[in-house]
Amino acid sequence: MPHQDNPESDSEEVPDGHPDHSSDASSDVVELDNAEFPDYFQERNGRLFHSHVVSPYPLPVDTAEQDRANRQHIFFKHLLGANYVGPVQEVLQFTVGEQRKTLDLATGTGKWVLDMSRDFPHVKFYGLDIVPIATRTPPRNVQFEMHDIGTALRFKEGTFDFVHGRSISMAVHDYGLLLREVGRVLRPQGLFLACELAPSITCAPGYPGDPALLFPKATTFFQVLNACLEQRGIQSMGPYLLDHIRHARCFTGIQSRVYHIPVGDWDENLHRQELGREFSEILLAYANAMKETIGPEMNQYVDGLFDGLKEEVHNAQGMVLEYYTVFARKI
Ligand SMILES: C[S@@+](CC[C@H](N)C(=O)[O-])C[C@H]1O[C@@H](n2cnc3c(N)ncnc32)[C@H](O)[C@@H]1O
Repeated sequence: MPHQDNPESDSEEVPDGHPDHSSDASSDVVELDNAEFPDYFQERNGRLFHSHVVSPYPLPVDTAEQDRANRQHIFFKHLLGANYVGPVQEVLQFTVGEQRKTLDLATGTGKWVLDMSRDFPHVKFYGLDIVPIATRTPPRNVQFEMHDIGTALRFKEGTFDFVHGRSISMAVHDYGLLLREVGRVLRPQGLFLACELAPSITCAPGYPGDPALLFPKATTFFQVLNACLEQRGIQSMGPYLLDHIRHARCFTGIQSRVYHIPVGDWDENLHRQELGREFSEILLAYANAMKETIGPEMNQYVDGLFDGLKEEVHNAQGMVLEYYTVFARKI
């Protein structure tokens, strides 16, 4: 994965309206040496974590977590029926003489970028992450780079047609600041799409009640987890996406939609039953990966919380996790 080290500069290709045939067109982006990889990771209790000092990220980055992230990527595609919501085809439409460009913030394993680069072969995709976990041999219209998205992006004003930020809450400490950067690098009428899961489970529409009473163990698990995350300065952005995007004052045509993801196979609809079965496994893998964040020194307590969550996920009727999506055009 290339490593960029000059945030003020820009890498541009001659716009020709065709796929870019260089995987790295920038002289400011340098290749990371294999020997440098261990510097980015540290092992704790048998799991591999980021070792970034400035931007502590709570989830592991090991194979188990990458498998979970890839599974979640496929899940979201099933949930939405596509890799995006909003007028993506319109903003990425092929135009002679113009190189369309898309930026994916905190790209992770890069599966979204890789999928999208196949669907839009004329578009150049950039995926940024603070650690080098995406493939080092991407297709020719993809470039993965290391970058802390809490700092200024290296791209010029108006570079991108589309900016995508999915499940980045835990990577961002100042969402307002990030939105200003997104607004800067988007061209006028360019599209921003943000997608985030809710911080805790709730009751499905049609299943009224207090989640704390109906699902007390699951609710407690997420209360404890969210308190631990808040201590690290991490807050789930899902419920606040719309407000943040409105207040950024550089977007128009703001549209939001909340999806209710079934947790468990309680839904009568067969498709949603399948979604619920798959999502409950993804959610439990996420919760398991977060045990270390809640407190390695409190093993029994954390295991108890996790077992309670697992029991309710497998048996609860009407449990959902909300998925917030907001898209908007740059003014
Ligand atoms: C939950 S994953 C989401 C990955 C991807 N967006 C997806 O939807 O599959 C969050 C990603 O944020 C990355 N990350 C954490 N802190 C970051 C930072 N300050 N700058 C850039 N990426 C960061 C992590 O390495 C991880 O890959």
